[in-house]
Amino acid sequence: MARMLHSIAGHCFICKVGVGPHFSGQVTQPFRQFLLLAAKLAPTLFRPYRVAVTRLDPYTLRPRFPILHQKINGRPLVYFDNAATTQKPLAVLDASRNYYETINSNIHRGVHRLSQAATAAHEAARTTIARHLNATRDEEIIFTGGTTDSINLVASALGRSSRFKEGDEIIVSGLEHHSNTVPWQMLCERLGLTLKVIPVLDNGKLDLAAYQNLLSERTRLVAVNHVSNAFGTVNEVVHICARARAVGALTLVDGAQSIPHFKIDVQLLGCDFYAFSGHKVYGPTGVGILFGRYDLLCELPPWRGGGEMIKEVSFEKTTYNDPPFKYEAGTPNIEGGIALAAAIDFVNELGLDRVAAHEDALIRRAADLLGELDGITLYGPSERTGALSFNFEGIHHYDLGTLLDQMGFALRTGHHCCQPLMARFGMTGTLRASFAAYNTLEEVENLATALKKALMMLR
Ligand SMILES: Cc1ncc(COP(=O)(O)O)c(C=O)c1O
Repeated sequence: MARMLHSIAGHCFICKVGVGPHFSGQVTQPFRQFLLLAAKLAPTLFRPYRVAVTRLDPYTLRPRFPILHQKINGRPLVYFDNAATTQKPLAVLDASRNYYETINSNIHRGVHRLSQAATAAHEAARTTIARHLNATRDEEIIFTGGTTDSINLVASALGRSSRFKEGDEIIVSGLEHHSNTVPWQMLCERLGLTLKVIPVLDNGKLDLAAYQNLLSERTRLVAVNHVSNAFGTVNEVVHICARARAVGALTLVDGAQSIPHFKIDVQLLGCDFYAFSGHKVYGPTGVGILFGRYDLLCELPPWRGGGEMIKEVSFEKTTYNDPPFKYEAGTPNIEGGIALAAAIDFVNELGLDRVAAHEDALIRRAADLLGELDGITLYGPSERTGALSFNFEGIHHYDLGTLLDQMGFALRTGHHCCQPLMARFGMTGTLRASFAAYNTLEEVENLATALKKALMMLR
């Protein structure tokens, strides 16, 4: 509506509004001003209309996910474990199958037709991902095995560089997945560095005032997640990176849980590294991405030795390839990279804004409905993305998860690879429902009903 009124107030009246050829297109000044004002107010006045136009319809999406059409214990599967891994659309399955059926071959070194086709498809996938992240060049995109692998790559390469000296500090947050804690701990042990932790407030957000106090000229790296897989907290990574930069520290953003929900622009985030896994964004397992700033990738040493990462090898001396190949030793997951690009095309076709709006409606409804249940604690801030974690007084999350499985609901129970966060809240784990584009409000409502039943059985 806003766009339509803007068009009226501006120029292309007839074609945009479809008034008809008899209309002259002349708009008087007061009328023009009225239209401009109306255009400004339209987003508020006509909100239901706007939502209706842009809403993502999960029911039209679900036929593209074959796995969703099955029964678990005689009940329709309700898949709410998307933060652990997402289901794959036909486009991704087809990309994988097509690769093996038509161009399977090893890449980069072959003169024959199949090798060239596989190389072209793999490098085209790199370009798709570079554009999606708004990297400045394709060479900033490294194919890895996933988020964990990407973070270990950075830890290993930094550990071999001259960037750290004993007594230097690395900052992580209390919301981190073990993947963004343990590699840094290992590096600290090896090099005599100190690991500092941004505390988590009671509302599940990071204490940014405390973060400011942790920063000093000794801080060499800040590594935080964009979205918490346990609580759905969205961290203020632009601010966190800017503050780190101000003291000369490098930054790594663990994007495992932001990549399926937001349009990512690494330049806007202002990070030096951004890591994610293909399987969290409707792509395959065993493939992931590390974005790294090009000058850093040129500067840092490689982490694994082998084929592909070299320029020249002799027993006396080996010289290394340029990024990204310098960091891609051995045969990569060729098909995985191609299928990951198909997944990125898929989310772009849906429109990540529409996905985010839809998932926001799901998570809000879930928080409202579950919040009414007796004895529940919902964790994290009220503004969450992707994941809703909760517990019921006197009931073990594992028992509840098992009963829900009997009713066809796939939720995750446990510590979600965030033991320090669980300890901070004095618990061993939670029950977590996490959402994707294909989930429906009906499924959310059914979860609330199923939880009521399960609670009656357990109490
Ligand atoms: C925030 C976060 N970081 C890292 C990871 C690790 O991802 P992967 O196991 O795909 O390497 C996960 C997986 O759940 C995650 O949620």
